[in-house]
Amino acid sequence: MNPPVSEVVAITGTPGTGKTTVAKILRERGYTVLSVNELAEKLDCIVGEDEGCKIVDVERLREKINSVLPNGIVFLEGHLSHLLNPKKVIVLRCNPLELKRRLESKGWSEEKVLENVEAELIDSILVEALELCDEVYEIDTTSLSPEEVANAIEGIVSGENVEKFRPGKIDWIAIVEDYIDELIRH
Ligand SMILES: Nc1ncnc2c1ncn2[C@@H]1O[C@H](COP(=O)(O)OP(=O)(O)OP(=O)(O)O)[C@@H](O)[C@H]1O
Ligand SMILES: [Mg+2]
Repeated sequence: MNPPVSEVVAITGTPGTGKTTVAKILRERGYTVLSVNELAEKLDCIVGEDEGCKIVDVERLREKINSVLPNGIVFLEGHLSHLLNPKKVIVLRCNPLELKRRLESKGWSEEKVLENVEAELIDSILVEALELCDEVYEIDTTSLSPEEVANAIEGIVSGENVEKFRPGKIDWIAIVEDYIDELIRH
């Protein structure tokens, strides 16, 4: 018999796309969901702080993480989770216009909002995930409630509803063309 193993599913995405919000719902539904930031603290992989965001030594965390992962499906939540050798990656996406509003309401600096809106606009995390992992999905969360995002994640993990979430269907630049100036004005 094979030894029991963990099946790591990364929930990643630009800040503000709703990773922590959906993580809470998945936990309430009985899933194991670990926060990358919390794991990094526990495993002594925080190497600094920038504007209130913890800087994680990803290499070190990647080496140490297996020792603390339980067996079975484990969701890893955080914008670095796709860098930690997951079996599957789910990238949460959000229309940059809505994302801008969400990040501004967090009180983030103009520079930090702009940096993240641009990252979402050009699919940064999706591209990174596709380079690193064979099984990548993306969910447009813009007009979904957090519960609906959790349903979509459950569908992907159970293998029932994967086609809809294959990457390549989201094109923010086409959608927000008329607003690009407003989005990236310095
Ligand atoms: N599906 C959703 N619809 C509307 N608003 C949402 C949705 N998901 C999250 N939000 C709101 O967006 C904001 C950001 O959500 P959240 O903190 O979960 O994002 P995050 O991806 O974890 O960001 P970070 O990478 O900074 O931790 C919160 O105010 C949250 O209430
Ligand atoms: Mg979060």
